[in-house]
Amino acid sequence: MKPVSALYPGSFDPPTNGHLDLIERGAKIFEELVVGILRNTEKSPMFSLAERLEMLKTLTAHLKNVRIEAFHGLMVEYAKSIDATCVLRGIRAVSDYEYELQMALMNRKLEPTLETVFMMPADKYSYVSSRLVREVAQAGGPVKGLVPEVVEQKLREKLEPAYRFHDEMQEGRAPGAKEKKRKRKS
Ligand code: PNS
Repeated sequence: MKPVSALYPGSFDPPTNGHLDLIERGAKIFEELVVGILRNTEKSPMFSLAERLEMLKTLTAHLKNVRIEAFHGLMVEYAKSIDATCVLRGIRAVSDYEYELQMALMNRKLEPTLETVFMMPADKYSYVSSRLVREVAQAGGPVKGLVPEVVEQKLREKLEPAYRFHDEMQEGRAPGAKEKKRKRKS
């Protein structure tokens, strides 16, 4: 059997502990794993491409057969250009399956030689998604344990006003929090 080079494509906006878990699993079974960050043109991402590249490079520095790159256009064309013969995707729950199946079959139609391999992240991350992490963080909520510390720090820096407001509400220092206290007294 030939050693296999795989591409793990995604938006990684931001990278979560689930992504990292999958990268670590993939790095164990593939000779080389390229994490390809989609340069989103339609969506406006929370983190710039440069920020996502930097975060993922830091997070995977200990994995010698993992490389972080950016791509745009068709994923199958990018996979071919880097000689990847396999695409790695994560499936957390049954709800992921339909979308992933559709995407895998479309990619197979576009490039029949490229195989998609699905892996499951640890069950403790089965509910973690970048979208929900963004939603919680945008409301100043805690994301500890859902994302690596460097990502948590970046979210705090980016969403500083939301976190300040959330913390002040918790401490009863925000205008809304005072209002609640006054109402409760009467
Ligand atoms: O992290 P995501 O958003 O689930 O990743 C989706 C991604 C980047 C893998 C997918 O949107 C993709 O491959 N986009 C590149 C354009 C493309 O090839 N589209 C056809 C997919 S069938």
